[in-house]
Formats: sequence, structure tokens, C-alpha cells
Amino acid sequence: MSRLRVAIQKSGRLAERSQEVLRSCGLKFARSKDQLFWYGQDFPVDLLLVRDDDIPRLLLDGVCELGIVGENTANEVMLERAGQSQLNCLRRLGFGHCRLSVAVPEDRAVSTVEELQDARIATSYPELTRHLLEQRGVRATIVELSGSVEIAPGLGTADAISDLVSTGTTLRANHLRELDVLMHSEAALYGRVNGISDEKRALLQRLLSRLEGVLQAAESKYVMLHAPREALQRITELLPGVEHPSIMPLEGSDRIAVHAVCGEAVFWEHLEALKAAGASAILVLPVEKMLA
Ligand code: PRP
Ligand code: ZN
Repeated sequence: MSRLRVAIQKSGRLAERSQEVLRSCGLKFARSKDQLFWYGQDFPVDLLLVRDDDIPRLLLDGVCELGIVGENTANEVMLERAGQSQLNCLRRLGFGHCRLSVAVPEDRAVSTVEELQDARIATSYPELTRHLLEQRGVRATIVELSGSVEIAPGLGTADAISDLVSTGTTLRANHLRELDVLMHSEAALYGRVNGISDEKRALLQRLLSRLEGVLQAAESKYVMLHAPREALQRITELLPGVEHPSIMPLEGSDRIAVHAVCGEAVFWEHLEALKAAGASAILVLPVEKMLA
């Protein structure tokens, strides 16, 4: 019987959430802590724990069918191998948000990346940085570094850097100022869709459909409330991502109970607006699983 292999980050920013999202699809793994191969127990999907930079290459080289990696890393490798077969981004996963940004020393008097014409830019993402700067008409000398990019300007080996920023702490600690965002990125599931057997493709579809359910459920809330019958239309409009709520009469009352799955985030502002429209006893519950 066919099995699928998924490459995920061994340790680092995406590691925990990558395991979590697969577990929430019902996958269980037999592993020993230091082992880099985890065997899928009740679903024929195994894990390969590797460095994130290696994930797109393992996919392209046919070692695994699926991988969870940042869009920035995937795009870097795809540019590196332009003209060859590429990866498919199957689903963005909603975590690991960051941006690839150009930063300069705090005291450097520039206000746009366009002013960095012919500057030396240090980065671990040479292809992506060159490509995104070229799109903006900026030709730079790329100084490729595999890590600690943020110290390059201080050492005098670069005029600016292009690196991932999430909280901005690293930039601040190194007296760098974020000049502009080149791209936004988050973790995504990538796959090789061409050249795999029908059996593997069917397995992949099953996994994708579970994943879709998990991700949709994570964004969804089940909302219950009481409302005056005549306010129903207004209440329905105020429920984020709802078209057809369930309506139930309330015994011995002229009010009704409204139940609905909200497909979009529910904020306090939504609840306050519902209350102002006459709703009471408003309950918001998490949705654990969903299968459309
Ligand atoms: C990135 C980047 C910075 C840091 C920025 O590294 O290279 O060092 O994160 O985050 P901050 O804005 O919250 O300070 P990453 O976590 O991707 O590690 P890696 O480059 O070693 O894979
Ligand atoms: Zn990395």
C-alpha cells in the first residue's frame, strides 16, 4: 500500500505548529525523540524532520510528496531552479506569519528601497531578494550569508540587509530600521502533484479535505443567542459570515433562539452590535471539527 511522506521543520519557528496541524487532521506518529523519521500509525502518512531550507529541495528531488515550509523559503528555491518543475502551494496554513524586509542602519538617511541602487545587501534569500528588488527597478550587489545577516552592516560588509522580520526585535537590537517590505509570508503546505501515483493522489486528497476542515473549524465559531422575532433580519446581517441561521421558537416567549456557524472571526464589536440590535444570552463556542 502507498504511503505519503511529509517533510516538516525539525526545530525552529514552524516546527511545533507543523506537527500540531497534522495531528489535528487525525494523524498519529510512532517516534523516538531524536529520530528524524516518524511513522504514521493509523493513516499512511510518514514525517521527515529536516531543516526548513531543505524542504523544498526534498520535494523537488522526489524524496517526499508534501512539505510544510514558509512561502519565502519555497519561493527562494523555486527561483533557484527556475525553468525546472515547480512546487504547488496547496494550502496556506495561517501561522508563521513574517515578512521579508529591507533594513538599513538607523542613522542612514534613506527613505525608500529605490535609493539603494547599487548598494550591497546582505541576505540569506539571495534569489528572492534580487528578484523582488529587480521588480522595483533596483539593482543591488547581493552579499549571501547563511545566518546572522543583521550584523553585516555593523561589520561594514553590507550597506543594508534583506531578512525575515516578525516582531522586529532582532532589527531593534542591531540598530537597524525597516525600510520596506519586499514580501509577506506564512507557513504553507506544498506538494508535488504531477508524477505521483493515483493511489498517492487519492491519499493526498483525503488529507487535504481533513486539513480544510481543521483550518475552517479553527476560523469558525458557533454562535447562539436569543432575539426578538422582528429583529431576525438585522441580527443575521450582523453575524459575520452567516447567511442561513437556524431559528427555534422559545417556549412561553415571543423571542426566538438563533444558532449559526460564523465562518469569520467573531470580535467583541460584533457581540456589542448584536446586543444593541436586541439580542441577549449570546454564547460563542469553538468548533472542533467540520466536514463540508
Ligand atoms: C528570522 C530572521 C531574524 C528573526 C527575526 O530568523 O533571520 O533573525 O527571525 O524575528 P524578529 O523580528 O521577531 O526578531 P528565523 O527564525 O527564520 O531563523 P533562521 O533564519 O535561523 O531559520
Ligand atoms: Zn530558516
